[in-house]
Amino acid sequence: MSDPQLVLAARVQAALAAAFGPEYADTDPVIRPSQFADFQANVALPLAKRLGRKPRDVAGEIVARLDVADLCTAIEVSGPGFVNLTLSEEWIAAQAQIMHGDERLAVPVTDDPHKVVVEYSSPNVAKEMHVGHLRTTIVGDAIARILEFLGHPVVRDNHLGDWGTPFGMLIEHLLDVGEHSAEARLLETDPNSFYQAARVKFDTEPAFAERARERVVRLQAGDADTLRHWQELVDLSKEYLHRIYGRLGVSLTDEDIRGESFYNHLLAATAAELQDKGIAVISDGALCAFPPGFTGREGEPLPVIIRKRDGGYNYSTTDLATIRYRADDLKIDRAIYVVGASQGLHFQMVFAVARMAGWVPEDMRLEHAQIGNVLGTDGKILRTRAGGTIKLSELIDEAVERAGQEFDKIEHDEPFDERTRQAIVEAVGVGAVKYADLSVALDSEYVFDFDRMISFKGNTGPYLQYATARIRSIFRKGGVDPQDTPGPIALGTAAERALALRLLGFGGAVALAGETAEPHRLCAYVFELASAFTTFYENCPVLKDDVEPAVRASRLALCALTLRTLVKGLDLLGVTAPDRM
Ligand code: ARG
Repeated sequence: MSDPQLVLAARVQAALAAAFGPEYADTDPVIRPSQFADFQANVALPLAKRLGRKPRDVAGEIVARLDVADLCTAIEVSGPGFVNLTLSEEWIAAQAQIMHGDERLAVPVTDDPHKVVVEYSSPNVAKEMHVGHLRTTIVGDAIARILEFLGHPVVRDNHLGDWGTPFGMLIEHLLDVGEHSAEARLLETDPNSFYQAARVKFDTEPAFAERARERVVRLQAGDADTLRHWQELVDLSKEYLHRIYGRLGVSLTDEDIRGESFYNHLLAATAAELQDKGIAVISDGALCAFPPGFTGREGEPLPVIIRKRDGGYNYSTTDLATIRYRADDLKIDRAIYVVGASQGLHFQMVFAVARMAGWVPEDMRLEHAQIGNVLGTDGKILRTRAGGTIKLSELIDEAVERAGQEFDKIEHDEPFDERTRQAIVEAVGVGAVKYADLSVALDSEYVFDFDRMISFKGNTGPYLQYATARIRSIFRKGGVDPQDTPGPIALGTAAERALALRLLGFGGAVALAGETAEPHRLCAYVFELASAFTTFYENCPVLKDDVEPAVRASRLALCALTLRTLVKGLDLLGVTAPDRM
């Protein structure tokens, strides 16, 4: 463990146990970066309340028991009872050296692995993915990558909307146009127009509507021919998803798809068990559960509808069956639903019903990672000017095109041929969109603003990609292989010390992002690291002739370590960093 915040936390906890008894060993030591030292431990304040003593006395006692001789040069009690901790340069340098020599950048593999389902993307078949799905796709993929890197077994799960009444009309339309027709191919490129065409016929041609309804009945009855057509529809839609996921560099595959249809055969038993247990009751002809604590405006209990009056099952029923499957068959410890915030109530209620039914083991975590809306610059949900759903491929095209314009304005090491330029610009445009989705708090709405996200300044994807390319160019200019930078790392100046200290925070940042399922915490870290590097590079020449060999060796090692950490951080976020820019 190299992250000073974690190391200090462990030491302070040991001091707490020594001073106040073993029952205090788990107390949060409240270690925070400090203006006056490297860190401060603020635990004395809450602890003093608990002990009925003066915070400064409690702080003094912690200091008396604190064993940090090997890593701190100064400890002092300040203010109302903060313990200020200043790390020694030698310790920071030694830890940075360890990190530099470690393939995992000193990020430990967890000793407490949790099997996690990360459910994300989950678009609906035969419909365009909208910007909301885009964001859940990107955020979910980052969460999966981060947890996997930390050593948790991750099950990626794409809960595709591939079942339900619209499939009657979609299948009939597919049969009308022919599965190999250009119209059918629209499913791969422009699914909305396929859907719309089916919808128009459904609304205007009674005979078609009748056929569609009969088709739903046959689909639900498991008619083999109907299922085959349904499968064709799903397969064509998968082509569309492949295209989008491929372009975004999202790690979802067909194996990760467990759509709503997958749980269809479990719905009847799920409903029956809820009814048998008395959790669901017939209300107005529908089978409903009323989890306590959920009421409407007038205080009336809100239902989770399990089976509709017409006998059909609901979205919620599928989610309940899904929870059972994940608990009983996958035996997971944690499920993270990366889904729009608007479905918050749905998930709270479904989770409550599942717990009432005893389907969720006590220590299994069910979390809704609530994804905020993506707004247009007018502050409304992002749509085309005509009010329709934006085609994602066009959105990405525009990002790439704009990235190209910005890219041509920045300083390059060399002129690029058109193919190379195009590959870089594609990575920058896609990276910009992804990073914009990731860098704000999950549940915040944010404005989709090309100008801001594609800027090469500020907390953006392009800025960070460019930062890595700049470091690589230092190595090219110096004729040095970043892999061949043994150091040793020594920290002569404030900027070097600050950079090294920031580097050591990587493991903690990744762990925090994984624990909270909040990739924006890792974005914040990566951005701070890039900023610390900029300050370092402005103050500490690396390649100049008058730099002493030992200093040069140390600085090259710092450059190489920063490069690797930035690239790894971006990789965990799903953002690729081009070698040259
Ligand atoms: N297909 C749904 C939609 O597009 C999202 C599914 C979310 N996941 C779930 N388990 N309900 O809104």
